[in-house]
Amino acid sequence: MSAATPTGRVYIAEVVTRDGFQSEAQFIPTADKIDLIDRMSRAGYAAIEVSSFTSPKAIPMLADADAVFAGITRNPAVEYLALVPNVRGAERALAARADAFNLVMSISEAHNQANLRMSREQSFAQLQEVITLAASHHTPVNVSLSTSFGCSLAGWVDPDEVMHWAGRFADLGVRGISLCDTTGMASPGAVGSLCTRAVVAFPQLQITAHFHNTRGMGLANVVTALQAGIRHFDASLGGLGGCPYAPGATGNICTEELVHMLDLMGYDTGMDLPLLLETAALLERLVGRAVPSQLLRAGPVPTRALA
Ligand code: COA
Ligand code: ZN
Repeated sequence: MSAATPTGRVYIAEVVTRDGFQSEAQFIPTADKIDLIDRMSRAGYAAIEVSSFTSPKAIPMLADADAVFAGITRNPAVEYLALVPNVRGAERALAARADAFNLVMSISEAHNQANLRMSREQSFAQLQEVITLAASHHTPVNVSLSTSFGCSLAGWVDPDEVMHWAGRFADLGVRGISLCDTTGMASPGAVGSLCTRAVVAFPQLQITAHFHNTRGMGLANVVTALQAGIRHFDASLGGLGGCPYAPGATGNICTEELVHMLDLMGYDTGMDLPLLLETAALLERLVGRAVPSQLLRAGPVPTRALA
């Protein structure tokens, strides 16, 4: 596929209340999660990953997923996603009326064992059941392929393995896959190569790039993914985030920084940047510390001469 034109629509999924809050030290009260999601629902997102229906022992910070889904005020323009690790989680997500499921499996066997306590083949078998259940309820499914660009437990990850697992899920009829850089090891060259391969091999799939800024390459990776034709990105308000089962994992790319960059590049994000910045400032008060967002400190680049 040729390089995409540098303009057009880009779709952003917010993950702060899932990827961001799952590794916070202090439990964020359910009412505060609901208030934050309701504010973000007015900011122009394509999707918001509300929470995860995982074991409350594995992810205690998100033990209130059912209550959060029940409490939010839904904007029909936004898709409200739930992370689902197994059939039990899928049943809870259906009861909560999640619009779509985000299933999770790691390309690294070691990370899959640490995160989900099973082999990749066991995960695949369980997720196959989840996909069948979702199809019977007309619920779209995305599969997040964690550690697609490297793993802090296993080291280098073979891009051929990413393509192999993406292909197996594509064969099951999922709507999309996410190429997840769980531990911030992706670099622009690797991103360009893998994204191009995936876009060419799976034209029927919605392919999302999910980057963490652990080593400062997050937005450089976005630019490379755009050039490869990717138009869906996950990002986290304030740049919070991290997997509790991946040593050294830190925040996702920061939503307001992503939107700010895409706006300056001429892409249409449909997002309200002033509202995002206001909500990121509120998020700092919620978590009780400065968030990684550099844009929140510096403010947007002026786009006209200052008076
Ligand atoms: N929702 C609620 N509870 C669940 C559940 C779900 N989706 N899946 C399992 N449980 C409960 C079981 O009922 C059991 O409870 P009990 O100890 O009171 O009997 C307990 O969790 C353990 O169940 P088991 O089937 O043995 O699972 P496990 O301990 O092997 O854990 C997962 C497997 C997938 C459920 C767990 O590792 C998990 O939730 N991981 C989440 C990983 C994650 O979200 N990481 C960050 C995002 S990448
Ligand atoms: Zn992540």
